[in-house]
Amino acid sequence: RSTLQSVSTRKGQPFMFGSTYDTYESNQSFSSSVFSTFFNHVVAENGCKWDATEPSRGTPDLGECQAVQSFASKNGASFRGHNTFWHSQTPSWLPGGISASDLVNNVIPQHVQQTIQGMGSSVTSWDVVNEIVGDGVSNGMSALQCVQNKKVWPTQTSDGSSTTLVTDLSFVHAAFTTALKYAGSNTRLAINDYNTGGNDAKTACVLAVLADINANAGIPYNRLAVGFQSHISATGFTSKSALSATFAKLAQLGATAMITELDISLPSASSGYERLQAAIWGDYLDACLYASNCNEFINWDPRDDMSWLGTSAAGTLFDSSGNPKIAAYEVQARLQRFAAGE
Ligand code: G3I
Repeated sequence: RSTLQSVSTRKGQPFMFGSTYDTYESNQSFSSSVFSTFFNHVVAENGCKWDATEPSRGTPDLGECQAVQSFASKNGASFRGHNTFWHSQTPSWLPGGISASDLVNNVIPQHVQQTIQGMGSSVTSWDVVNEIVGDGVSNGMSALQCVQNKKVWPTQTSDGSSTTLVTDLSFVHAAFTTALKYAGSNTRLAINDYNTGGNDAKTACVLAVLADINANAGIPYNRLAVGFQSHISATGFTSKSALSATFAKLAQLGATAMITELDISLPSASSGYERLQAAIWGDYLDACLYASNCNEFINWDPRDDMSWLGTSAAGTLFDSSGNPKIAAYEVQARLQRFAAGE
């Protein structure tokens, strides 16, 4: 934890190195120890998603989300919010024949307001929208085309008689304008997505949507962030130089970059791959450490047997016995080198 404090001193602002937590975790003692020593930042793996926070329309239920937030403060850690809008893990009443106009004018603003307002102003950042850009996008697409390419609700919303394509990004604008109104003044508002970070079409799309949010929802870039989930593998990842170039593009705009869900799955648990995993982990961390606009770095699930990937993917920093892996030592070394001024 002291290394993270030294890193923050060099950065001139808090460097938030975190992982996921949900109060139903089976390894509570492990979580308490790593969150008080190894990590200083927490995000709810599931507890702040729409199905948990608004099980019935218009009635906020922030209990699980707030329980994770209080776990963070009990362990001297900060807390980020994930997420106020995603087509997955939605409550049973959504989208249930809700019209696009009801979605945009009522459902989304109400959910975003009650969640962000209810969680308070100390939340460091919110994934306001999660995974709204399609996977089949190509360079040169407009922001609207990028989102329509996702082909899941709400770009396709049933008005009872037929599915109608949402013909504009007003559902995104509604989420962000509401978030800006109710979030703390230091809270970054993020668009979060996966398979991004390099010089690729999906990253270009995310940047196009970010520009649209700035231009058409009037959100200043100094409140905007891009969350790079970074669910990668030892054989499929973005290079440090490509990540750094993408972060630099955001810095030029005055926007923030963050690594929000890093895990690095291994094709097999052989030690050769663990060394490669450690090197990739270190490069992702360095790309954030040495970028002026990257200060939140989240590792998704702290240990292999708690990972959504399944234990055999061996994709986290700690093994299933709770011991640090080579990647955990590499991360410590990179943090110490940065803290030492290298
Ligand atoms: O809460 C229910 C529980 O009541 C029930 O008994 C149990 C039996 O299936 O399911 C529980 O819900 C599970 C939930 O996690 C909470 O544990 C869901 O089935 C399960 O699908 C869900 O998985 C989560 C997944 O998102 C859902 O898409 C993972 O834990 C979570 O790590 C994963 O995280 C997502 C990010 O939010 C967005 N980026 C991708 C990332 C990986 O998919």
